[in-house]
Amino acid sequence: MKYSFVLLASAALAAPAVNHHHHNERREVVTVVQYVDGQGNVLSTNAPGYTTTVSPTSSAAASSTSSAAAASGSSSSSSSSSSSSSSDISGDLSAFSNPSSEFQDGTIKCSDFPSGQGVVDLSWVGFGGWASIMDMDGNTASSCQDGYYCSYACQAGMSKTQWPSEQPSDGRSVGGLYCKDGYLYRSNTDNNYLCEWGVDSAYAVNNKNSEIAMCRTDYPGSENMVVPTLVGAGSSQPVSVVDEDSYYSWKGMKTSSQYYVNNAGVSVEDGCIWGTDGSGVGNWAPVVLGAGYTDGLTYLSIIPNPNNKDTPNFNVKIEATDGSSVNGECYYENGSYSGSGSDGCTVTVTSGSANFVFY
Ligand SMILES: *[C@@H]1O[C@H](CO)[C@@H](O)[C@H](O)[C@H]1NC(C)=O
Repeated sequence: MKYSFVLLASAALAAPAVNHHHHNERREVVTVVQYVDGQGNVLSTNAPGYTTTVSPTSSAAASSTSSAAAASGSSSSSSSSSSSSSSDISGDLSAFSNPSSEFQDGTIKCSDFPSGQGVVDLSWVGFGGWASIMDMDGNTASSCQDGYYCSYACQAGMSKTQWPSEQPSDGRSVGGLYCKDGYLYRSNTDNNYLCEWGVDSAYAVNNKNSEIAMCRTDYPGSENMVVPTLVGAGSSQPVSVVDEDSYYSWKGMKTSSQYYVNNAGVSVEDGCIWGTDGSGVGNWAPVVLGAGYTDGLTYLSIIPNPNNKDTPNFNVKIEATDGSSVNGECYYENGSYSGSGSDGCTVTVTSGSANFVFY
């Protein structure tokens, strides 16, 4: 079977977010990534705008469903937060061991950040550990307060479980715990834990001699790339491969995970932010990685960031692990993508797992 993915553009926001805080910047464009099969059936979609069609395995009918997912962005020129040590973000669970302590609704104050059981504190973002704080109407806040959804990050390989089934109708997404009468409540009571592991089918392996900050979009939520996976020099970390058949769906379409990858040597605190034009970090990082699982197959991609066409200080390839099977070839080497051009590439992991290898 042939697969391709399509990056769909959205121009301006359908409904710009309302911002009440000067350090929150409105996000003007979002990127929508869709995986479609050879018949043009949409397999999955991930919001966070530009139009590109990628056909890594040759022809494919590219489906297009244009949409504008609005999201309020927060830029973090937060001044006060002390610099976190990167160990704070590694989380308290070992890889693929499940959380054991259920979240208790109405017991933790909205002013307290519920670290642990996979939840990690994003001190550098400047929202008290939260990834973003938004309400249904598109308002944002810098502290978790009544009427807001307080979105949080989970450690590498895990994804948050909380978002309301009822979502804004204008294409924005909202996620996180709900703050009511000063206390935190699950917005998805089908899940008793705040974080869950993805499918164990992708890892990031760093063969460079400095750390690499991979920054996942806070989604559903602000779509800001503040959710860190720090891959130390010579080490590896799980990539969160969301099970798209059960994970958040956007307008009825499946969604995948997306990571903005900064140049090697850029710290999480400097890289996992809403960057500024020309900064080369965050939304301006040189490469985007995508990951998702549906119908028994894992799709992994390397996607160019139209905001930054500079060659990164690393190469990256997707490689099957021992005993695993991967269809397709995908690498970004010396500033060029494998295959036909500059549009990035996708592979399908049909069994086992694959590594995104930085070298
Ligand atoms: C990238 O550059 C290296 C070193 O010059 C070279 O060995 C390699 O073949 C190049 N890769 C591609 C895909 O052109």
